[in-house]
Amino acid sequence: MYRVVERRMIVPNLHELTVEAPQVAAAVRPGNFVILRPDETGERVPLTVAGWDAAAGTVTSVFLQVGASTAKLARLKAGDAIPTFAGPLGNPAEIEKFGVVLCVGGCYGIGTIFPIARALREAGNRVYALVEGRSRYLLYWQDRLREVSAGVIEVTRDGSAGYTGHITRLPEILNLEKISPDRIIVNGCTFLSMRTSAVTRELGVKTIVSMNPIMIDGTGMCGVCRLTVGGKTKFACVDGPDFDGHEVDWEEFLARRKTYNPEEVQPLRRSGCSSHY
Ligand SMILES: Cc1cc2nc3c(=O)[nH]c(=O)nc-3n(C[C@H](O)[C@H](O)[C@H](O)COP(=O)(O)OP(=O)(O)OC[C@H]3O[C@@H](n4cnc5c(N)ncnc54)[C@H](O)[C@@H]3O)c2cc1C
Ligand code: FES
Repeated sequence: MYRVVERRMIVPNLHELTVEAPQVAAAVRPGNFVILRPDETGERVPLTVAGWDAAAGTVTSVFLQVGASTAKLARLKAGDAIPTFAGPLGNPAEIEKFGVVLCVGGCYGIGTIFPIARALREAGNRVYALVEGRSRYLLYWQDRLREVSAGVIEVTRDGSAGYTGHITRLPEILNLEKISPDRIIVNGCTFLSMRTSAVTRELGVKTIVSMNPIMIDGTGMCGVCRLTVGGKTKFACVDGPDFDGHEVDWEEFLARRKTYNPEEVQPLRRSGCSSHY
């Protein structure tokens, strides 16, 4: 069993979860993910790592409460134990000296982009962070990101912080900020990754996205996480989760993600849980 060190809501519906898992903490790299189960009957939930402390033997993730399993995770408290915490899984993010790197994070991706931004800075890059959300109250960790970057740009759909609108304004924002990235890395929901990739294709800037298909084993055995990248079939758990956003077949990816939506609502109805559905 794995002891929960802390679980707290950082902004509405988004929680920070820290679990004692010394072997994972000793081996994890930025961009890796773990698969955990909230209880003995729960399904396997993949979560990207947002932090770790090798000395304390702890691993931290940020998760969005969307359905039955993440609702169970949202009820965990310090001292509880969970039966499964497997990892580190997936390939770590590519950390090299690229030059100027823009790290884009939305939703849980604001948390998971943090260790990537830190590692890129340590590798000698000039790193900028862009955090986006519906409103100011959904943004978090700007202070942490400021410590590891040359600047943090905020984009909110309602204009309550930073630039008003959506990530589709990226070319204009980069112009105004006088930033000319050599590489863009996106963590967060599928739409953020897809829309960022669409605008950066026009800019001609290589864009790496962290893909989050439905997963079961996370080790390349079940085939559930398959997607098409550059015309080839890939398994996100072992070939990714990072891929070139300009090569992902987004239409197919979105269609596959919706496969179990009717079934996923059933356990929520049975448990009387609410979510943002
Ligand atoms: C490699 C990877 C890393 C991820 N990292 C994070 C993270 O750091 N933070 C975070 O909040 N979420 C992350 N996710 C997504 C997270 O795993 C799902 O939101 C979660 O499993 C949903 O479980 P649920 O029962 O609460 O919701 P469900 O009711 O099962 O589903 C709600 C929605 O989530 C999607 N979903 C369901 N199961 C999965 C699954 N196993 N993988 C991906 N999507 C799923 C469904 O298509 C549906 O749209 C990641 C997914 C992957 C594959
Ligand atoms: S999750 Fe089973 S092959 Fe990737």
